[in-house]
Amino acid sequence: MSAASLSGRRIVVSAGPTFEDIDPVRFIGNRSSGKMGFAIAEAAARRGAKVVLVAGPVSLATPADVERIDVRSARQMREAVIAALPADAYIGAAAVADYAPAVIAPGKIKKKDEQLTLELVRTPDILAEVAVHERRPTVVVGFAAETHDVEFYARGKLEKKRVDMIAANRVGVAGSGFESDDNALTVYWADGALALGPAPKTQLADQLLDLILTRWPA
Ligand code: C5P
Repeated sequence: MSAASLSGRRIVVSAGPTFEDIDPVRFIGNRSSGKMGFAIAEAAARRGAKVVLVAGPVSLATPADVERIDVRSARQMREAVIAALPADAYIGAAAVADYAPAVIAPGKIKKKDEQLTLELVRTPDILAEVAVHERRPTVVVGFAAETHDVEFYARGKLEKKRVDMIAANRVGVAGSGFESDDNALTVYWADGALALGPAPKTQLADQLLDLILTRWPA
């Protein structure tokens, strides 16, 4: 595929996990290296886009010519993403924690009883909020990590979150997924689908951007 220019486009990408603090030394987090989102940010900047990368806690170098905003929690990620709008596209590649502790204990929680119950509350759904925002980007893309019935859940997310595309990780494909440099995706949109990879995440990033370009008015 050719690397069509993204010059003049502003793209906001979220990447990595979020960490939801329990106390000063503990947190709830998702397994995510951030590699897919960073690869997308890197590819978009290389192709001339102005890229804002909102990154959860990851140990990855900032790609060239990318404006990076580091955040920790889902709440902070939401603030940073909304503040980065307007944009032509939002690509939500972050593995956002779905629940966060209702309160963050100010001091380290000491072990005493046999059982400890944590009260968790839902985090804001950043992707769904961006998709109905008054400054909604032209193209809104989400990711899905499913272990079964991938198409069913991906298409459900397309509708429920009102996004234009869902890139679903094809789990069980050799070398794909968490922490790997390779991945395999199936991208779903209202009237189509396309399987990408297995391939290096850097290559998938360019293929995903090519697909997004087809959704943009000329
Ligand atoms: O519903 P689910 O978490 O599987 O959806 C995944 C997609 O939604 C990803 O694009 C992720 O970045 C986004 N998401 C979000 N805010 C949340 C949960 C998920 O933006 N609180």
